[in-house]
Amino acid sequence: MIKTKLLSIEDLDKIEIQDQLKQAINQNKLVIFPTETVYGIGGNALNECSAKAIYEAKGRPQDNPLIVHIHDEKEVAKYALSISEKAKRLMTHFWPGPLTLIFQKKDIVPKQTTGGLETVAIRLPSNPIAQKLLNIVGCPLAAPSANLSGKPSSTMFKHVKEDFYGKVDFIIDGGKSTIGLESTVLDVTKEVFVLLRPGSITKKAIEDVLNEPIIDQSGERNTEKVMSPGMKYTHYKPKGNVVLLSGKIENIKNYLESLTSLNSKTALICATDYQTMFSFMNVFPLGNLEEMNLIASNLFSSLREMDEKEMEQIFIIELPKEDIGYAIMNRVLKAAGYQTLKL
Ligand code: TXA
Ligand code: MG
Repeated sequence: MIKTKLLSIEDLDKIEIQDQLKQAINQNKLVIFPTETVYGIGGNALNECSAKAIYEAKGRPQDNPLIVHIHDEKEVAKYALSISEKAKRLMTHFWPGPLTLIFQKKDIVPKQTTGGLETVAIRLPSNPIAQKLLNIVGCPLAAPSANLSGKPSSTMFKHVKEDFYGKVDFIIDGGKSTIGLESTVLDVTKEVFVLLRPGSITKKAIEDVLNEPIIDQSGERNTEKVMSPGMKYTHYKPKGNVVLLSGKIENIKNYLESLTSLNSKTALICATDYQTMFSFMNVFPLGNLEEMNLIASNLFSSLREMDEKEMEQIFIIELPKEDIGYAIMNRVLKAAGYQTLKL
């Protein structure tokens, strides 16, 4: 057991704490910090021992590469072999923010950080606490989402405490993550850029800035040529059996009402708009359909609540796939292990 120190935002202004954080990262220890997307579990991105420590703490397979977090756009040149004009345009437009770009890596980035790949994922987060921490420690932080491997990403301080208290040196409390879904991942090593993971920065928003189409491979799974290795592992899965329900809402209602297996361990996750319609069962509302950003920010905590409440049978009603809905449904499908019932 490590003696984990819990920090508030104010603590980051104390010289003594700053020294401790810097020293911890120098010694390949881990710090959990908030970002605008989800919490990250960070270690020195340039040291292979830190990467190992991260994989161990998460229980994560070592071929699943980590994202390198930086605090200044200029740092990219230190870690990426080359930066195309098109990639620069995206950096200028979307950074700091929830966009991760994949470049060919320079040797300074150890293979342990990149899961053995010759490419490196880089992101400049906008969350002020993340920026402050990066400034304090003075090195890039390799940071995957701060959840035990397979679990939903953490969007709240209490989630990271549950998963990592006693396993890392520091946890910084940044309240609830504003976006709640992980960053958009885009491979910019190719002539035509490839979307590997959808996020709140949409395909269309990227295409609008580039003024040309990009390729979407974010839906591909379990294929030999998985390009974003993270996609081949089970994700976001509560312990109970999760099924996605699609089709007319009346048909969904009829189906659930007729289920003989419906009991107190059955849960329905859906838009708040449907809450009263399904009052005959345990409903976990995500927010109104008009507020898809709110739905995005509540999704992971709702999935975690399924385990807290020991739900055994979990249904999720499909959400519209437009804009951020596309990223939301990408995560929902993974949580359901792609089990869908069309009604
Ligand atoms: O919002 C986020 O991106 C959060 C916060 C903490 O920044 N981080 C995060 O990291 O979600 P992680 O490790 O959970 O997800 C990283 C994703 C994985 O799907 C991984 O496969 C992909 O990025 N990735 C990382 N490096 C890659 C590379 N070199 N080539 C292709 N995909 C890569
Ligand atoms: Mg993750």
